[in-house]
Amino acid sequence: MQQQILPILMNGVTGRMGRNQHLVRSILAIREQGGLQLTNGELVQPEPVLIGRNEHRLRALAEEFGVNRWITNLDSALADPDVSIYFDSQVTSERAPAVRAAIAAGKHVYCEKPVAEDLPTALELSRLATKAGIKNGVVQDKLFLPGLRKLKHLIESGFFGKVLSVRGEFGYWLFEGDWQPTQRPSWNYRSEDGGGIILDMFSHWRYVLDNLFGQVQSVCAIGARHIPVRYDEKGHRYDATADDAAYALFELKDGVIAQINSSWCVRVYRDELFSLQVDGVNGSAVAGLRNCKVQHRVQTPRPIWNPDVPNTHDFFGDWQEIPENETFENGFKAQWELFLRHVLEDTPFPYTLLEGAKGVQLAEAALQSWRERRWVDLEPL
Ligand SMILES: NC(=O)c1ccc[n+]([C@@H]2O[C@H](COP(=O)([O-])OP(=O)(O)OC[C@H]3O[C@@H](n4cnc5c(N)ncnc54)[C@H](O)[C@@H]3O)[C@@H](O)[C@H]2O)c1
Repeated sequence: MQQQILPILMNGVTGRMGRNQHLVRSILAIREQGGLQLTNGELVQPEPVLIGRNEHRLRALAEEFGVNRWITNLDSALADPDVSIYFDSQVTSERAPAVRAAIAAGKHVYCEKPVAEDLPTALELSRLATKAGIKNGVVQDKLFLPGLRKLKHLIESGFFGKVLSVRGEFGYWLFEGDWQPTQRPSWNYRSEDGGGIILDMFSHWRYVLDNLFGQVQSVCAIGARHIPVRYDEKGHRYDATADDAAYALFELKDGVIAQINSSWCVRVYRDELFSLQVDGVNGSAVAGLRNCKVQHRVQTPRPIWNPDVPNTHDFFGDWQEIPENETFENGFKAQWELFLRHVLEDTPFPYTLLEGAKGVQLAEAALQSWRERRWVDLEPL
């Protein structure tokens, strides 16, 4: 069988997402499964070429995973004609210049969200990519979560009839970093370093809402900086200048109303760290990261409002779990495989830089709504 080695330049892989989801659980996992088989039977072996600022950390990472190639100079790395794909999961604020350079070098580009810190830059990258004729993509991992895949199947089956509303609850308590280490990097809480839950999470909510329920038309949001002081990786106290919670309403095409709470300052009282309830005329569903429960109209109980007597009805018992009829791969890996096929076989790949820019657009509109205390409409892009 013919084998092709496909070097992929990976930037930001010493970070949390780059290392865990992209290097280990995607690219190395594809290698471990024996490669990616194309429709013509050819086997493709992706070969990570690690790039970063810190030689010591890169070498350690490469040795840990038996990766042979790593480099600290982006220009020389991009000049290598062997490498045809550039991947970026650096801190958001560093992404645009590197992606711009990769496009100029004629590389195909795949990157983490948000594409950029502002909409003009995100759109510029999309335009440059189109002009250069390179393949491009943005991570939209939530679409590949088992819970949301099951929800998508329900929508396509017509289970809901007309969808009325969507309510999402996302978040968990992120420790401040003083008496317990925090779970996320400190730049996440500094707006001057590209942090903030709105920029971070609304770039997800845009593609989730657009793909499942209809294009987002308008947003009304209020953000908050609930915890003003945090402690960084070295235990140093700093001002948390970015929003750490956001409470938002969205108007979608065809009148669907969505609301999503996103918060790093909430204690979990739900089955999973993210839950999305969808109410339709014929039935409702509650999807989490992995699971999805439904309640059809014929199973809907008839609650009677009477706080004078204790509740004896188990409302949770009225829901039925959707069975696990298929095996779900890690979502990041599944999307990587689609992107590689897009590059190698020209198969469709809808998750482009332009789609990523729409996420930045929603985040910017939400920030504007918060600032100006009003609904903000989204222009079609
Ligand atoms: N798809 C998702 O669900 C998801 C989840 C979390 C984060 N992200 C995105 O992934 C990207 C990386 O997030 P992370 O949580 O892995 O961050 P991280 O801080 O753990 O990693 C950041 C990476 O960028 C590198 N870097 C380059 N220039 C830097 C600079 N000037 N300062 C600091 N680091 C620099 C670091 O060395 C490291 O490799 C962000 O854009 C973030 O929005 C996506």
